[in-house]
Amino acid sequence: MEAFHGRFYISGEFREKYVVVDRGVIKEVRDELSDMRATNIPGHVLPGGVDMHVHFRDPGETEKEDFKTGSLSAIFGGTTTVCDMPNNKIPITNYSSFKSKLSAIGNRSYVDFGLYQAASKEVVPEAIGQKIFLGRSTGGLLTDVGNCEWQDKVKVVHGELQECLDNNKRENDNLVSHDMNRPLECEMEAIEATFKYRLERVHMGHLTSLRSLEFAKSLGFTTEVTPHHLLLNSSAQIGSFGKVNPPLRKKSVQQELLNNINSKSLDVIASDHAPHTTQEKEVFREAPSGLPGVETRIPLILSSYRKGLISLDKGISALMERPAEICRINKGRIAKGFDADFISLDFKKTTEIRGEELHSRCGWTPFENFEGIFPDLVYLRGELIVQEGEVVSPSSGVFLNAKEQ
Ligand code: DOR
Ligand code: ZN
Repeated sequence: MEAFHGRFYISGEFREKYVVVDRGVIKEVRDELSDMRATNIPGHVLPGGVDMHVHFRDPGETEKEDFKTGSLSAIFGGTTTVCDMPNNKIPITNYSSFKSKLSAIGNRSYVDFGLYQAASKEVVPEAIGQKIFLGRSTGGLLTDVGNCEWQDKVKVVHGELQECLDNNKRENDNLVSHDMNRPLECEMEAIEATFKYRLERVHMGHLTSLRSLEFAKSLGFTTEVTPHHLLLNSSAQIGSFGKVNPPLRKKSVQQELLNNINSKSLDVIASDHAPHTTQEKEVFREAPSGLPGVETRIPLILSSYRKGLISLDKGISALMERPAEICRINKGRIAKGFDADFISLDFKKTTEIRGEELHSRCGWTPFENFEGIFPDLVYLRGELIVQEGEVVSPSSGVFLNAKEQ
């Protein structure tokens, strides 16, 4: 048993408390403590972040990222739990590929992790959820939704409808034409198509506009946006380093989304961390879509809070609480029965983001020179992992087995 003392974010406020932890789980939150010593955590203490949408490329494309570098990048950005997508080189569509992925990852993760399966005829009980691809993106997966076996788990939808993408194909050599190739209407059509399948626990990944966000919510889906669709648009001068699916939209669409970030229609802010090498990104037309973002997700949103763009409540709900609830894991809150994952930070301490200082193997970021607020300390299940920019513990992330939950 151990105890921590500090200013913890609990039920919408920072409160000075003692948090008693037993084998990594919060046992009690108390006002006083007399029977044991407590470790003091300086600064403001938030729950560790939960990023329910990352692509760590392991196994198969570890020249872009592997679970070690991806999870290091996560933890330095205050994310202590990730859920990793199944579009690996060998897609994770069945039990055998799922098992090989899990054994390839081994004990190299610095954060706790769940793994999705691609929805298929075979269910993998250990998977954190099922991914549905309604349109082809990086990896080329397309789901035959009428022929899948379903589980009572979150179903994350890549919402771009293939038929619509096919109808909009044209020359594509910059961010504006990339948006025209995969227009917002394909997102709207995908949401509508998903509704017709009458599935439970549908989560619409990476929505890019207020219109699609509200539409998805009105149909009973949980919703997700990314920091890049909130903060970047197709006029950014970053060429293929802004090429992503769904695409960055035009400025007015992006601004409207950002201006409504506190909306009840928004559940989750996930990174959709999807690294590619700088070499692959050289020529726009041929560049694969995808951007890294797991390390900058929380720092960018905390900085947006500092600038008055988002409320702290909404930020913590979207970065920590709601993704944990949607994936049904005991994380994302500082309360009895939840894992003791904490990040501590100073809201006044801002950093200019630099790709070369981040920990992803890909070595770049679309948010170069943006302001971020990074955590000083990161705890995973009560254990100090990051201290002042250094990792101070060996990797100890565990697999979140949905079968045992
Ligand atoms: O831009 C994207 N990149 N969108 C996706 O859906 C997949 C991702 C990737 O894996 O690179
Ligand atoms: Zn994705």
